[in-house]
Amino acid sequence: MPEAVLRYGDKELTLPVKIGTHGDAAIDIAKLRSELGLVTLDGGLANTAEGEGAVSFIDGEAGKLSYRGYPIEQLAEHSSFLEVAYLLQYGELPTKAELEAYEESIRRHTLIREDMKHLFEAFPHSAHPMQILASAVSALASYYPDALDPLDEEAVDISSRRLIAKTPTMIAWAYKYRVSQPYTYPDNTLDYASNFLKMMFSVPAEEYLPDPVVAKALNLLLILHADHGQNCSTSAVRLVGSSRSNIFSSVAAGIHALAGPLHGGANQEVLEMLQELYDSGTSVETAVKRAKDKNDPFRLMGFGHRVYKNFDPRARILKKAADEVLDALDVDDPLLDIARELEEVALNDEYFVERKLYPNVDFYSGIIYRAMGFPVDMFTVLFALGRMPGWIAQFRELMSKPETRIFRPRQLYVGYDYRDYVPIDRR
Ligand code: CMC
Repeated sequence: MPEAVLRYGDKELTLPVKIGTHGDAAIDIAKLRSELGLVTLDGGLANTAEGEGAVSFIDGEAGKLSYRGYPIEQLAEHSSFLEVAYLLQYGELPTKAELEAYEESIRRHTLIREDMKHLFEAFPHSAHPMQILASAVSALASYYPDALDPLDEEAVDISSRRLIAKTPTMIAWAYKYRVSQPYTYPDNTLDYASNFLKMMFSVPAEEYLPDPVVAKALNLLLILHADHGQNCSTSAVRLVGSSRSNIFSSVAAGIHALAGPLHGGANQEVLEMLQELYDSGTSVETAVKRAKDKNDPFRLMGFGHRVYKNFDPRARILKKAADEVLDALDVDDPLLDIARELEEVALNDEYFVERKLYPNVDFYSGIIYRAMGFPVDMFTVLFALGRMPGWIAQFRELMSKPETRIFRPRQLYVGYDYRDYVPIDRR
């Protein structure tokens, strides 16, 4: 095994270096503190691998992503979302019989408890759907106390199926409540994406037939969002799970993390930015100039990524899909033209080139969601729906390892030295 040698003061420590499947190397610093009294300082955890994992792999330099070894492009072309959900959790592509059984078990769990309607109705109509979804997922723990032990594989399996089956229903009902329409119950004759579309967009007064173009696009979007290594929300899920919290609470934490504008919330921000450019008639050159100005908080949303220093492969697929879906739906969206122009200008700008800032998954996804009829503030919950199997797979992977310990990072304390308490009348 390769090693790294660290010298500190008059001591020397040899540290093992572990090599991953694709040749990535990681120094195992488990003995650093006990042997040298040192901890590492790694703001934003940019250089820290939290354990070993086998769910997905990102090659940031080459702009590649794979789930369980399968390139994302192949899964996007051939798979269904539930097949990918199975792959992520159980490690292998299912046989036909396994997939049918899995789909059937997901169908069996699509209903949510009627009492949960009160939960949606307790929110103001203006509540953001991410807040409602996080609360609803959290509440599931109280409805299924029989299957909460994170170390009981069978319990986690049933809870995982419930999560994947019920999330579309919870999202659609949160939306129905907001627009004051009656809730639509799941239709188990439909596939996963079509059933979700029906629960979102049908009303009892009219017949509703899910558009196959829209269902196919949704299937693609969900697949592309299904997992992405140790990102912020997945790390949140794992951190909470490491304390042996149940899977519902852990995933609810992930939803809150995903909601942030630098993470999943960026898809809503991208569309709002494009809309603002369109409404105000601001040129893309001006937007790019603002994004480069360090005194201006404006950033080009949908650009840049901690890991990708190349095109995000998901953005590449979605750029092509945006053209196809908008064409098929006969939608002419001026925001797509602005997005293309913005990409062109930014990719040729020295600031973006030097910093290797490319469009990420959020850059084109919103334009497709909009063409499909989703309101802008639903975009991030759609990301959450897609990411659900990844969060679950990562939670399960963590729980399956006997060496998993509670996450408990250190901090370099730079505050006051010890000092004496001063009574209030002498301050
Ligand atoms: N517009 C303008 N400048 C940028 C941008 C941007 N979108 N992104 C990064 N930079 C600059 C940044 O100012 C810094 O410049 P300098 O070296 O001169 O200080 C340099 O590029 C490196 O950026 P960073 O903020 O240190 O990089 P990070 O790895 O901490 O942040 C990021 C990554 C995704 C948060 C960031 O690129 C960003 O804020 N992008 C916009 C938000 C976005 O699109 N988020 C979605 C990410 S992909 C999906 C997901 O994870 O949910």
